Amino acid sequence: MEKDPIKRFRTVFRRAQVSGIELPEAAALATVSDDAQPSVRMVLLKHADDKGFVFYTNLDSQKGRELKRNPRASLCFWWPALQEQVRIEGSVELVSTSEADDYFATRDRNSQLGAWASQQSSELPSLDELRHAFDEAAKQYEKQLVPRPPHWSGYRLRPDRIEFWLGKPYRLHERYLYSREGDGWMMTMLYP
Ligand SMILES: Cc1cc2nc3c(=O)[nH]c(=O)nc-3n(C[C@H](O)[C@H](O)[C@H](O)COP(=O)(O)O)c2cc1C
Repeated sequence: MEKDPIKRFRTVFRRAQVSGIELPEAAALATVSDDAQPSVRMVLLKHADDKGFVFYTNLDSQKGRELKRNPRASLCFWWPALQEQVRIEGSVELVSTSEADDYFATRDRNSQLGAWASQQSSELPSLDELRHAFDEAAKQYEKQLVPRPPHWSGYRLRPDRIEFWLGKPYRLHERYLYSREGDGWMMTMLYP
């Protein structure tokens, strides 16, 4: 049994990537508001290593506002073709500005312009307004590289708990919960 849940995650994630599943990097991200209201939405995992799980977003969005006040979050992956679910819980921190800049530079130009155009999660009066904001950004950065907006960056979720769920016949599913203990991890099995 793998003792390191990050290594284990990377192994199963690789299997999901080569299995032909659409968007294997898509995960549900849960955050919690000040008044303890949970909120969940999909994000795309961009990087995973010993330091944590990285996704990118608008820092002024609902999730961004919630994470600023309460940095605890959870990610949940489900890969039906593998019958595997992975749940990750922990706290987030912003990635470094250079890390965010480097990733932003790899995005296609229209996505970069879209990041300037969207005031994610604020009320949008009309779709024309959004198209106009996009055209304005395109005009502003015509014939130059699009810089990363200050309100757009990444979070790294540093896990405290990672659970692997394996679908098995007769509902005898297997659950392996890794909890952080000192510098290492403790693994326990859970009833399904
Ligand atoms: C498959 C999928 C992947 C998504 N990936 C991201 C992402 O990586 N970052 C992001 O900000 N929004 C992403 N979204 C949009 C979010 O689900 C959400 O609508 C948006 O971030 C606003 O959420 P909020 O109002 O809770 O902040 C994705 C949506 C889907 C369906």
